[in-house]
Amino acid sequence: MPSSFKDEGFFSHIRRIEKMRDQLNNIKTQAENELSAVTAIQELENLRVKFLGKKGELTSVLRGMGSLSAEERPVIGQLANEVREFLENKIEEAKKRLVNSERNKKLADEVIDVTIPGKRKILGTKHPLSIVIDEITEIFLGMGYEIAEGPEVEKDYYNFEALNIPKNHPARDVQDTFYINENVVLRSQTSPVQIRTMQSKKPPIKIICPGRVYRSDAVDATHSPIFHQIEGLVVDKGVTMGDLVGTLEIFAKGLFGENSKIRLRPHHFPFTEPSAEVDVSCWACGGTGCRVCKNEGWIEILGAGMVHPKVLEECGIDPDVYSGFAFGIGAERTAMGRFNIDDLRLLYENDLRFLRQF
Ligand code: DAH
Repeated sequence: MPSSFKDEGFFSHIRRIEKMRDQLNNIKTQAENELSAVTAIQELENLRVKFLGKKGELTSVLRGMGSLSAEERPVIGQLANEVREFLENKIEEAKKRLVNSERNKKLADEVIDVTIPGKRKILGTKHPLSIVIDEITEIFLGMGYEIAEGPEVEKDYYNFEALNIPKNHPARDVQDTFYINENVVLRSQTSPVQIRTMQSKKPPIKIICPGRVYRSDAVDATHSPIFHQIEGLVVDKGVTMGDLVGTLEIFAKGLFGENSKIRLRPHHFPFTEPSAEVDVSCWACGGTGCRVCKNEGWIEILGAGMVHPKVLEECGIDPDVYSGFAFGIGAERTAMGRFNIDDLRLLYENDLRFLRQF
């Protein structure tokens, strides 16, 4: 028996080496199995840490190498390196496989079926009121008018007083006004913009003012507490009623067609003298009488007149030198006529089935 065999430690050394070898081989097979079953990158990373990480299984086996002798160490060391290399290769392989299959899955998911019908983008349409207001504005811009604006929360002074409607004037009752306080109202007409314009500009003045107005009316087929007017004002030397009539004729033909006619009926507005209500020949029947015009042949759409001298004076314009005409067009009424809408509420309910018709 060789002397070394007498060494009691000899067999235990052999056992230790065998044990480590077994451990390393186990790690190898176990890792190989687990790696081949891996399906996600994160899982793979977890396995890498489990086997090769600082606290991993391979490392813990290598820690045990301290107890080996100088001859044994390289044997196990080499095996350990082989296992490490093997695992690293397997991990790299698995990674490639996963990346590849993830890419393929993504590509498959992103396949575009060009035969599926496209999603239709539904375009909005212009509201009938906007259509009419824009058309009217266009007509007057074409005649050299400028657009003016004024506040909807307005001073009593501009809404009434300066328009020759003093306190207690019956005209105030006609326009059921929303009062914010004694001196401030929600404007009941766009006429206050006339005053604001004349007080801030010198003639010649030619303005058009589309805007929202408010009156304390209950809602029904022809009334709404909010509605729209388009105010017009012209002030210059020598402006006459003939200019007003000519202007309104151009307006009516522009909006309702070349064959449209207008007719003026005497009326009263405190801020104009003389004043008139203006009708347009019925756009549906052309004047012979039909359901739309209630057999009248005419439809009333605006009020107008020559600016009252008192109003000019209030604005610092000498009525002996200057004169002017003004008008106020009802936008809702015009839109309802133009599009044959029989209930004003339709204009405010925003029912798509209605709005899509324009
Ligand atoms: N502001 C009037 C109303 O709301 C309409 C009107 C009539 C305006 C005659 C005018 C005008 O400018 O001259 O009933």
